Amino acid sequence: MRQQNSQNNGGSRRYSREEAEYLRRRRAAEEMAAERKKEQKKIRRRENLKITGGRLLVFLIIFLIIAAIAATVIFIAFCSTPDAPKTSGDITYYYGGKEVRRQKAEGHVTLDGAYFCFNDLSEYLGMAESGNAAEMKFIIRREPAKTSEGQGDEEYIVFLTDAKRVIVNGQEIKLEIPNLLEGDEVWVAIDFIRDYMSGLSVSYDRNRAVLKVARVADEELSTKDSIVYMPVTFRLSRTDPLDQADRTGVDTSGFKVDIDSLEIPAVWFSEDLSSYEKYMNPQGEMRDAFLVLVNSGHRISADSVPGDLVTVTYGNMSGTVQLREFAMMSLEALFTELRGAGFFGMMVDSGYRDYAYQSNIFESYVQKEMSASPSLTRAAAEAVVSRYSARPGTSEHQTGLALDMDNTGALTVDFADTDEYRWLEQNAWKFGFILRYPEGKEDITGIQFEPWHYRFVGRYHAYKIHESGMCLEEYLADLKS
Ligand code: DAL
Ligand code: ZN
Repeated sequence: MRQQNSQNNGGSRRYSREEAEYLRRRRAAEEMAAERKKEQKKIRRRENLKITGGRLLVFLIIFLIIAAIAATVIFIAFCSTPDAPKTSGDITYYYGGKEVRRQKAEGHVTLDGAYFCFNDLSEYLGMAESGNAAEMKFIIRREPAKTSEGQGDEEYIVFLTDAKRVIVNGQEIKLEIPNLLEGDEVWVAIDFIRDYMSGLSVSYDRNRAVLKVARVADEELSTKDSIVYMPVTFRLSRTDPLDQADRTGVDTSGFKVDIDSLEIPAVWFSEDLSSYEKYMNPQGEMRDAFLVLVNSGHRISADSVPGDLVTVTYGNMSGTVQLREFAMMSLEALFTELRGAGFFGMMVDSGYRDYAYQSNIFESYVQKEMSASPSLTRAAAEAVVSRYSARPGTSEHQTGLALDMDNTGALTVDFADTDEYRWLEQNAWKFGFILRYPEGKEDITGIQFEPWHYRFVGRYHAYKIHESGMCLEEYLADLKS
């Protein structure tokens, strides 16, 4: 025990040195550990900051990308909305293809068009002018050599201070859109040309703010080397026929046209459509390549799919529309000219349909007819439907050469009362299209009047069909006889 104590006592002195050393080392170690901890904390804080900064950067980039996409969408939507008239900047005016004026758009756009200066038109057409700002008279002197109505004949228009009234050839007209009297100038909405003048084409591109007025060529008298223009005249109402030939009042309904002797006239467009000519007016063996007849008596096989289908990439469409290449290119040309004429709302609703799709359409109409009239047998319902929707295997939509278009997407006969339809009536043949189911031909085509359904046959045949007043069935029968 003692030894142990003495050892302990002796040891206690030795240990306390060691202990001091130990304590010193331990403190040093603890200080080092604390220092390391501090250092690590600093590193962690720095790393945290880096991570937070990185995250912030990522968020910022994502935010900027989303903001850029949103801005682009808003910009595109705003710029491409056909109904949004350009009310700032300048409108550029062309007469007969020549730029004559730039005018502030502000105060010179209407809901669906623009104003033009009637004095500019007067100068372009060489009208005589008299009167003053309160009562301005513009006179078109007839060109005696080109009219049958004798020398000294004239037409005139008087713009009165009351901007809503004009006097045309002695008759008062009430305008829907009032004129603007600006200094010595009369400004008139382009609707006036469309409604009350003939022999002129007018178009307004609202996105580019370009207004174009030009004289219309007389296709019968013009040749490739010299253009003869239609006389420019005033109409007394918007429902007067535009066409001089229509003014004769001669009833040609019982007259049978000799289609062999019909010469295809040269055509003019207000836009440059030369690259489309080979499609609209196919030549050589392609001229007759699109005369295929599909109707209830001429079936198309269920597995027939055209080899050259392409997607229609223009127009305001309600889905993907496909047509054969020639039809698609010609339709593109037609839409270009339509827009040039100031019609922006036309849309293509349907083009190529395969057999299965036509079966679905036909079946859904049959079901609709049967639920509307429960007493109808299925056969009777099918007979009703087949007057407006072709049975599968008898629809020419399956050829890829037919399409439906109108200005609302509704596809109703009301479309026949629109300016767009009247334009198509006069112009569709130039692009190689015919109205396939005309009014009054239901007994021959088997299908009710469809003002929206057009069929590509190429200009050569389209002109003859248009001019003769025949439907496709009659025309093909006449060709064979
Ligand atoms: N609506 C036309 C006739 C078709 O279905 O082909
Ligand atoms: Zn159709």
